Amino acid sequence: MHRLIIDCDPGHDDAIALILAHRHADVVGITSVSGNAPLTRTTANALMVTALLGVDTPVVSGAARPLVGEPIHAAAVHGESGLGGVDRIAHQRTTAGDDAVAYLLDVAESDITVVAVGPLTNLAHAIDRDPTWVKRIAGISIMGGSTDVGNATRVAEFNIFADPEAAARVFESGAEITMCGLNLTHQFQTSDALAERLRDADTPKATFAAQIFDYLHDRMETFIGQRASAMHDPCAVLAITHPHLLVTQPRAVAVELAGTLTRGMTVVDQRVGRRRDQANAKVAYRIDAERAWEVVMESLDAGPGSS
Ligand code: BDR
Ligand code: CA
Repeated sequence: MHRLIIDCDPGHDDAIALILAHRHADVVGITSVSGNAPLTRTTANALMVTALLGVDTPVVSGAARPLVGEPIHAAAVHGESGLGGVDRIAHQRTTAGDDAVAYLLDVAESDITVVAVGPLTNLAHAIDRDPTWVKRIAGISIMGGSTDVGNATRVAEFNIFADPEAAARVFESGAEITMCGLNLTHQFQTSDALAERLRDADTPKATFAAQIFDYLHDRMETFIGQRASAMHDPCAVLAITHPHLLVTQPRAVAVELAGTLTRGMTVVDQRVGRRRDQANAKVAYRIDAERAWEVVMESLDAGPGSS
């Protein structure tokens, strides 16, 4: 079983990623970061998901602000709480600490992969404190960036846009990086049919997930007139636990820090017919969405035959 640390900002899709990871990996710990909502809320949401799962995975809180500038959040998509539309679960869990960077440095081992599905602030601080950290872990699987369209801006994806300087440090760090950007995650869409399967399954996990899908569908209906939402963050888990479901290519990825229109864009070297710059990441281009959904639905108690 893969050993993972999940660095996250739950967030609806982060919550699904946490459930999936606990089903298919040994989740050593969870570190939280400011992103979809302020740090106090993303941390509370991470704790709540562990309570739902009945696991004692340590949750350590991390950075409340990006390396440069002010925090940005995604309340329009995820609600002020980061988990809008979801019933809160009462529990007694508390954090295992508030220094995610020290935690990341301490637990580093050669068989641990960090799955980073929020802004990359905690990871950048870890690299600043100990540049050898990236060589002491197996690698980093990132949900972030894009080879084409953005979402926070025309060309920048939210997790990178929320802390571009941190993302640049991570991509320049020499870590073994897998990048699941929007070009990939847009192939992995929820649907009302999947939400119905979750409702039919009628377990605590499935009901929680159904509330997530329904909430996202309502938001997306308002934004783009369709009841479907890209399920971004689980893709970065699948890239490690089910790599055969994704197609990746080695590519050079750099983060634009200065552009007036392009700050936070991941600039991916996709030139053909000439020598590309040396790759620093495996960039995911395709996912077998049908098979990947079966894996995710099973982790949510709504696999074939479970209802
Ligand atoms: C990413 O941004 C967040 O809103 C999601 O949780 C995901 O990690 C998608 O751009
Ligand atoms: Ca996220």
